[in-house]
Amino acid sequence: MQAKIKAACTQCHNAGRITEQQLTRQQWSAELKKMEGLGAVIPDANRAGFLNYLTQNFGSPKGTASKPAGNKSGSAAK
Ligand code: HEC
Repeated sequence: MQAKIKAACTQCHNAGRITEQQLTRQQWSAELKKMEGLGAVIPDANRAGFLNYLTQNFGSPKGTASKPAGNKSGSAAK
């Protein structure tokens, strides 16, 4: 998933634009819509995966329950 996000999201700005954020899932969802408005292409099939990845890796500390260790919620994208 990371590679797909990189490909889709670093055409117009570098990844730092994304990694510096700490957004909740809802905010990331809004962000994806905003980026689409700016011209980003996010296939529907990838949307949930993008959201999961962004929320888990660049989520709000309050808004996500996932911990780095022992989280077996099953969405490890590989
Ligand atoms: C077509 C060009 C383009 C693509 C592709 C793109 N972005 Fe952006 N992105 C922008 C622009 C332009 C801004 C600055 C917008 C502003 O300042 O209001 C931005 C800003 C951002 C920001 C900073 C917060 C904000 O809203 O200004 C985030 C986070 C972000 N992009 C995430 C993403 C993600 C995630 C993707 C992939 C799904 C993506 N971007 C793909 C053009 C793009």
